[in-house]
Amino acid sequence: MYRNIFDTHAHYDDERFYEDSQELLSSFAVNGITGVVSCGVNTETSKANIELSEKYPFIYVAVGYHGLNTEDVPENYIEVLSELIGNRKVVAIGEIGLDYHYERETRDFQLEIFRRQIEFANENSLPVIVHDREAHEDTMNILKELKPRGVMHCFSGSVEMAKEILKLGMYIGLGGAVTFKNAVKPLEVAAFVPEDRLLLETDAPYMTPVPFRGQRCTSLHIPYTAEKIAEVRGVDTQYLLDITDRNARELFSIK
Ligand code: NI
Repeated sequence: MYRNIFDTHAHYDDERFYEDSQELLSSFAVNGITGVVSCGVNTETSKANIELSEKYPFIYVAVGYHGLNTEDVPENYIEVLSELIGNRKVVAIGEIGLDYHYERETRDFQLEIFRRQIEFANENSLPVIVHDREAHEDTMNILKELKPRGVMHCFSGSVEMAKEILKLGMYIGLGGAVTFKNAVKPLEVAAFVPEDRLLLETDAPYMTPVPFRGQRCTSLHIPYTAEKIAEVRGVDTQYLLDITDRNARELFSIK
C-alpha cells in the first residue's frame, strides 16, 4: 500500500464523477492519496471545484480559463478570478493554455487570455498550470517572456523541450501517457527530469493509464503511472511518490 500520493491535475467537477463522487472521493484517504489539485477550465467549473474542496480537505483548486473554452470567458474574467483566489483552497491559476489541435480559429483570443492570466498569476504570486497542445512555440515564447512559476501539465514533448521548460524554473507534470504501449518520448523524459522538478498527475477523468484504458481515470490510478516512472528512473515507487508529493507541496505552497 502506497502513501503520499499527490495528483497535481484532475477535473473532479466533470460530469463523469456526478454519480459516485462522494463514494469515490471518500475512498482516497485510505488509499494513500494526500492531495489533489482539481482544475477549472471556466467560471462554472472553477466554482464547482471550490465547492468540492470545501467538503474534502485533500482537494485543492486551480481556477482559470482554458484555451479550449474561449466561448465561456466573460468580459470581466480577471475580476472573477480576483474574487475566486480569495478562497483559501485555491492554489494556482489553471488550467490555462493554448490548444491549436481543436481550436485553431480562436488562436488570437487564446493567446490574449493566456498572457493575461499569467500576468495575473504573477501579480498574485500564484503558480500556473499550463496546457500546450500543438502550440509549443507560442507557449514557450510567452513563458520565456513572462516567467511564471508553474507546471507544464501532461508534458508530451521531447527531452530537448523538457530542458527548455526546466531552464525557466518550471515543473514537468507526467501522467498516464508514460504507461502507453507506444510511450518512448514520455519515458525518456520520465528518466531525465531532475527529481526536484517532477510532478505526478492524472488529468482524470481522461488519460487513463494501462491496464485500465477505456475506463474512467481517477487519482486511484496514480500508482500505475508512478511504478512505470520509478522503474525507468531505477528508484523505489514509494520514494518517487514521496518526492513528487514534496514537490507538489512546494510548488502550490501547501503544508
Ligand atoms: Ni486537464
